[in-house]
Amino acid sequence: MSEPTAATTIRWDQDSDGIVTLTLDDPDQSANTMNAAFRTSLTAVADRLEAERESVRGVIVTSAKQSFFAGGDLRLLVQARPEGAQEVFDYGMRVKRDLRRIETLGVPVVAAINGAALGGGLEIALACHHRVALDAQGSRIGCPEATLGLLPGGGGVTRTVRLLGITDALLNVLLQGQQYRPGKAKEIGLVHEVVQTPEEMLAAARAFIEANPTSQQPWDVKGYKIPGGTPAHPRFAENLPAFPANLKKQTAGAPCPAQRNILAAAVEGAQVDFETAQVIEARYFVELVCGQISTNMIQAFFFDLQAVNAGRSRPEGIAERKVTKVAVLGAGMMGAGIAYSCAKAGIEVVLKDVSQEAAEKGKAYSAGLLDKALSRGRTTEAEREALLARIVPTADPQAVAGCDAVIEAVFEDPALKHKVFQEIQQLVAPDALLCSNTSTLPITALAEGVERQDDFIGLHFFSPVDKMPLVEIIKGRRTGDEALARAFDLVRQIRKTPIVVNDSRGFFTSRVIGHFINEGVALLAEGVDPATVEQAAAQAGYPAKVLSLMDELTLTLPRKIRDETRQALRAEGKELPAHPADAVLDRMVDEFGRTGRSGGAGFYDYDEDGKRLGLWPGLREHFTGEGAGGDVPFEDMKERMLFSEALDTVRLFEEGVLTTVADANIGSIMGIGFPAWTGGVIQYINGYEGGPPGFVARARQLEERYGERFAVPSLLAEKAALGETFSD
Ligand code: NAI
Repeated sequence: MSEPTAATTIRWDQDSDGIVTLTLDDPDQSANTMNAAFRTSLTAVADRLEAERESVRGVIVTSAKQSFFAGGDLRLLVQARPEGAQEVFDYGMRVKRDLRRIETLGVPVVAAINGAALGGGLEIALACHHRVALDAQGSRIGCPEATLGLLPGGGGVTRTVRLLGITDALLNVLLQGQQYRPGKAKEIGLVHEVVQTPEEMLAAARAFIEANPTSQQPWDVKGYKIPGGTPAHPRFAENLPAFPANLKKQTAGAPCPAQRNILAAAVEGAQVDFETAQVIEARYFVELVCGQISTNMIQAFFFDLQAVNAGRSRPEGIAERKVTKVAVLGAGMMGAGIAYSCAKAGIEVVLKDVSQEAAEKGKAYSAGLLDKALSRGRTTEAEREALLARIVPTADPQAVAGCDAVIEAVFEDPALKHKVFQEIQQLVAPDALLCSNTSTLPITALAEGVERQDDFIGLHFFSPVDKMPLVEIIKGRRTGDEALARAFDLVRQIRKTPIVVNDSRGFFTSRVIGHFINEGVALLAEGVDPATVEQAAAQAGYPAKVLSLMDELTLTLPRKIRDETRQALRAEGKELPAHPADAVLDRMVDEFGRTGRSGGAGFYDYDEDGKRLGLWPGLREHFTGEGAGGDVPFEDMKERMLFSEALDTVRLFEEGVLTTVADANIGSIMGIGFPAWTGGVIQYINGYEGGPPGFVARARQLEERYGERFAVPSLLAEKAALGETFSD
């Protein structure tokens, strides 16, 4: 019979053999988390197990939810502040102590992991002596805390180090927060058995209990050894300095408190006994959870991402629709990637280019990706064939007959885009969704080239499409709500994250990334050494250094955008303010013919195969001189990049291009490489030291030093004056 414990989050069932099954089943939530009710239940369970120890033959821990256990309660953790550090410490230590009481009871405890066990979920399982994982759909196992600016503070650092050895624990589990399918988790050593059915899972759990009348963890044995090197071994001490050095190299000096604390907790914890290690781990956890960076990252990667994917920006009341057959026009770099992503989601694809040969080449791109996936065991021969069979390459416009969506990705030329839509609009389904992948051209003007303007919308993918998770949906002036909802559904159907913006030149992403680039180039104009400019971008936390990014995008693209914007503004009687980057870009292209990597030379030199050699020595000769620019503080270099992007994002809210903070944060991190530690371009303002007023004060200082482009938009000045942050 099932009896509730003091609180009902953990159910207790004992069978006639004395085996207790603890079923995690929070009655108030769809997933189990480490909330107050769980903590109370866990203490009650530990008390009861100790009291009834004599009649307990073994314990099985499993869950009644789809996932095993979802982890920490992020709603609580995101609110933690330094003043509450002691409370957070006590909260964590209580869970750890209760898990430890169950672990050291002297009876075998088995985790029957029926679904995802991430973070706190895996930590509960690690406190068990044996782990059996069900290979269920969507099952993932790992400690992703680092990706939220945290560390596994429920014993995860202490136990993985003792289970896997310090190197494997750090590299395979802790520092990057990888999530594994059950099979891979077994290979790594996180679980012992993988089974295919719930019945097998419970049978395996019982079998372990029957075979092990008493059970202990290796770390309960006096003199246990950490795999791969005990703390007492000289090799351990010898290797220690390599960890911080490697971390520094990997993160290029960008803020990474989680990784720093994980490293410290693992290394210090490995040199002391288990109980002390748990306390060390708790201290490092508390420091992170009460700090700003974990708040930023939880806000972005949990709350904002959830809001974006759940459809905060999707019009309500419109039934969801799925696309069955899509026409991709243009089989170049973007078209080929879009075709692959659609076919991967099961959509039939007509991939059209000017010649059969060009279309075949676009399809070959998918074959290449699949070959790679096959060689890494990430797909099967059958899946590969099925996906390729869904892509039909063609040069014949008639082949688009019956398509219920069109995604255009031909050259960035409005007249050509109009022409290709003209060619197919009568052939596709009469209500087909019409999308353009333009990265710079205003959607409203492009829509004028089609008959059904309300079905026309921007669908801005990022390169490389198969890897980049974001799609920016651009609503033109005449785009209908129905088209917006359908575009949103299509992006979700291909398992990408959609943000929604209103039309404007460059939309959100292409416009804002331009400021990052311009700031980097402006520093050169001020005489800052090019290597220092690159270092500033890396240390600010940008995944791509600014001059190398520019070489990839080409130096001609920002010039083209600038010139077109200037022209458009002049037509309205306005003038685009001059930017210190302008002259450097113009000279690079016009005087030196250096247009970027695809042109063979840019800010960097390249060999014939396009391999980057090093920064072009001519930059010093022609632009920066030797040692000039020494009066720009390094902190200013970093913040000029971050602030210029954040300030223009606020202007985009003023202009009505952006409408939700979640879209801005997620779009900036996932689309244009705004540093993840900030939580996104608006969270950066909210979380800046001193909040928005602190941000405003610093922007004014930058404005004084570097010019009007750092002027504070009135929306931000108002928020700061009212003591408000930006929120949805
Ligand atoms: P690309 O030059 O690699 O490919 C363009 C393709 O369109 C070529 O294969 C060309 O043969 C084909 N094409 C030309 N006329 C055609 C016609 N009449 N019918 C069918 N196909 C035709 O260009 P890419 O980089 O793939 O860009 C395509 C579009 O995507 C552009 O609008 C670009 O602004 C946009 N975009 C590009 C990004 C990038 O990173 N390259 C990122 C996001 C958007």
